[in-house]
Amino acid sequence: MTTQRRLLHSLLGKGVVPPEWRDAVASVDRALFIPEVIVGGDFADDPEEWLRIVYADGPVVTQVNDGKPTASDAFRLHTSSSSMPSIMLDMLGLLDVRDGDRVLEVGTGTGYNAAWLSHRLGEARVTSVELDEAVLALADRNLRRAGFHPTTVLGDGRDGHRRGAPYERIICTCTMRDVPQAWLEQCPDGRIVTPWGSSFFSGSFATLDVVDGEAQGSFSGSPAFMWDRTHRGGAGRVSDLYHEREEGKKGTTDVPPQNVIQDDPAFFIGLSVTDAWFRWCGADDGSGEATLWFFADDGTSWATVEYVPDAATYEVEQYGHRALWDEVRDAFLRWHDLGKPERSRFGLSVDRNGQRVYLTKEAPAGGPGLP
Ligand SMILES: C[S@@+](CC[C@H](N)C(=O)[O-])C[C@H]1O[C@@H](n2cnc3c(N)ncnc32)[C@H](O)[C@@H]1O
Repeated sequence: MTTQRRLLHSLLGKGVVPPEWRDAVASVDRALFIPEVIVGGDFADDPEEWLRIVYADGPVVTQVNDGKPTASDAFRLHTSSSSMPSIMLDMLGLLDVRDGDRVLEVGTGTGYNAAWLSHRLGEARVTSVELDEAVLALADRNLRRAGFHPTTVLGDGRDGHRRGAPYERIICTCTMRDVPQAWLEQCPDGRIVTPWGSSFFSGSFATLDVVDGEAQGSFSGSPAFMWDRTHRGGAGRVSDLYHEREEGKKGTTDVPPQNVIQDDPAFFIGLSVTDAWFRWCGADDGSGEATLWFFADDGTSWATVEYVPDAATYEVEQYGHRALWDEVRDAFLRWHDLGKPERSRFGLSVDRNGQRVYLTKEAPAGGPGLP
């Protein structure tokens, strides 16, 4: 089956289609939103394979490096896509859209999500903002081909779109480091859902309820969205970022490196180490050894921790003006001292003074309290 029905069936089989979104998923043909040339190949001569990709529950990357010419051996940063349909439904579930809501989407991408929203709510109630002119032009064409004409706007989604306000819902489909004030002004009573985080850990949805322009929210999910282009994190290949001649300060640690990159501690570490990221590189010799790399977003500092199975201590090297491993380890130990709180125990509040993350519910019996 290489039709929209195949995608619907696979999503229904996973139990991820809320009843109120079933019609939109069944009716809006994803093929109208996916170009033949995508990351992974030019499928003009292989329509069967293209249809398999289109109707699979997977993300389809449609642009790298902001659409700039890229040498074949250069690093490719994914910069636009059609998101994974089950993740889109996850987000729409969190958004809790009601009939009659006016929705602002940030990150039009291919237009597929704007089409779902238009199908469910009516195109007059949907506004979608995209920063990339070429991406938006294609989305407009896709939407028209599918028979939808929501308001699409070229601009920075952080500014929202004042003319269409107020909105009852804002859904953002790129990762935000913070929730912009404009969203609270334009959605003063409603709900906002956005992928949220910092360079160290960006795998959370923030779901915020806004009352009188002040928002309270929580974290969930495991999204892997592209960055808000105006506040990107660092990225690249280790081989491009590390230079043999650079020698760092050497030491050892007794913190097992794999422990700091699990979701709960990584979320907590990312609250203070906001501008550095990591990559786990396993050895390909079957030894089970690995190097955990840390890079500052600006590329001026790096650190490594060498993982050896069953070791009691691990070798550390830190280069540049920041001691990245020390920063990460200190944050990890603070998380430990707090009783290793899960991400779901944190709350997010946003008001005119900015955003604040705090620890909510009581610590488990016997665990340490909050400072
Ligand atoms: C994952 S894609 C969006 C997928 C889209 N909703 C769909 O259904 O195809 C993320 C999009 O966000 C856009 N984007 C990134 N930063 C933005 C910003 N500050 N304002 C508006 N759009 C932005 C990117 O250009 C990209 O097209």
